[in-house]
Amino acid sequence: MATSFRGPKKKVTYYLLCFSVIGVLVAAADEYGRRFLTFEEAREIVSAFASSGAPIGELPDAGSWSHWIEACDRDIRERVNRGYEDSISNLILYGTTFTTRPRLESTNEAVTGEGVLTAAGRERVGDFAAALARNPKGERLRFAASFFSGRGITGAKVQPVLEANLTRFMAEQRQYQSTLETAGKASDPGQLLFTRSTLYQERGLSVDTSLFPNYALEDTLRAMLRKGALTAGGIRSVAIVGPGLDFADKRGGYDYYPLQTIQPFAMLEAVARLGLGAADQVEVTAFDLNPAVLSHIREAAEGARAGHVYTIQLPRDSQVAWNPEAVAYWKNFGAVIGHDVPPIAAPALFKGNLEARAITVKAEYVARLRAVDLDIVSQTSDQEPGKGFDLVVATNILVYYDLFHQALAKAAIARMMNPGGVLLVNHALPSQPASLLEYLGKRSVSYTAGAGYGDDVVVYRRRK
Ligand SMILES: C[S@@+](CC[C@H](N)C(=O)[O-])C[C@H]1O[C@@H](n2cnc3c(N)ncnc32)[C@H](O)[C@@H]1O
Repeated sequence: MATSFRGPKKKVTYYLLCFSVIGVLVAAADEYGRRFLTFEEAREIVSAFASSGAPIGELPDAGSWSHWIEACDRDIRERVNRGYEDSISNLILYGTTFTTRPRLESTNEAVTGEGVLTAAGRERVGDFAAALARNPKGERLRFAASFFSGRGITGAKVQPVLEANLTRFMAEQRQYQSTLETAGKASDPGQLLFTRSTLYQERGLSVDTSLFPNYALEDTLRAMLRKGALTAGGIRSVAIVGPGLDFADKRGGYDYYPLQTIQPFAMLEAVARLGLGAADQVEVTAFDLNPAVLSHIREAAEGARAGHVYTIQLPRDSQVAWNPEAVAYWKNFGAVIGHDVPPIAAPALFKGNLEARAITVKAEYVARLRAVDLDIVSQTSDQEPGKGFDLVVATNILVYYDLFHQALAKAAIARMMNPGGVLLVNHALPSQPASLLEYLGKRSVSYTAGAGYGDDVVVYRRRK
């Protein structure tokens, strides 16, 4: 395993120590053990960032902490709606259930160099608006219709709002591409890694998810087991922070099947396949702040208790040069936790470009899945000693925050973990809180023959 980015150096100040007791007063856990982080718990981080000179903005202190942390939570939750707008924009670009026009696979197909929607972009928006007006049946379209009507956007108001959202979304996509290109040219090789790690810190909180990051996670767990960093049977409780929903992921963007979540099941399967825990005993808890994600998981669990099956569609773009290991993962996905069922037929337009499988997950595993509303940056969840999490997974979530907020999330996660438990993320994080989490290493996993598409899994261990 290679080395990681290290955040600003730790330096505890006398001033912060004096006032740390105030922070304890804001900690009041609810029936799920959820509560805001206290100033005392964040002290190491505040202190380190205060002395680092990192461009983080105004830092809270002991006196302002309780207002700051609650406002921080509100600000974060306010980003959820912009995430929905972004998912809807992706759906407009890639969806196939509301139009027969070609998908817009690149930024230039949707907007001109001046950032104005192209004719093709406007046509897809028009088709989408028309579909929303027709009282749509599809889950994603119904979601979009009720999202806009809930904000008073109906009738003729819908199309201009969709156009404005898509224009904003495409401008942001261009900005991300250019920021990454600039970072890639920097003389400091760490700059690109650092830029990637916080790239979406201002963006709406997207829910999108896909299968392959779970391959990188399973591969990393396998390597850790081989090296003796994990022991067989050592995992009883798994937390998925930000499981997401497959709405219209920008790589695949398929909308011809119902919304689904993948990661909680993929991690249960990884743990069971590797002998790290038994599938019928390991508890999986999903923490998220997005109401759509939480209600999807709760309804799936309730449905399973009432005898309904949970099916996961597994489309794979066969034009991508996947490497054999990634293909094998895709082919075997579900073998431990479920069984194959016929996939929903993909629209004709994908003929020859898409391979599809589908699985249903055993009802007992779906029924046991728990979903808890938690903002992992400002809140934590107290666990009884020894009943915390042995494995926590947080991929494609902390990239939506700056370094200071990432460090708070690390502190919040660490407090939920059992001593010796492992945290897997997929990009570099600041080193704080060094007192709670020890960096174990990084594993780069490619999904394609070239290095173009893959994940860097970064591993931390809760200190004992
Ligand atoms: C882009 S999705 C990633 C899904 C999945 N982990 C994956 O890698 O495919 C990000 C997820 O994190 C959730 N999320 C974002 N910020 C969060 C926060 N502060 N606390 C809890 N969940 C958060 C989003 O609602 C969403 O479910």
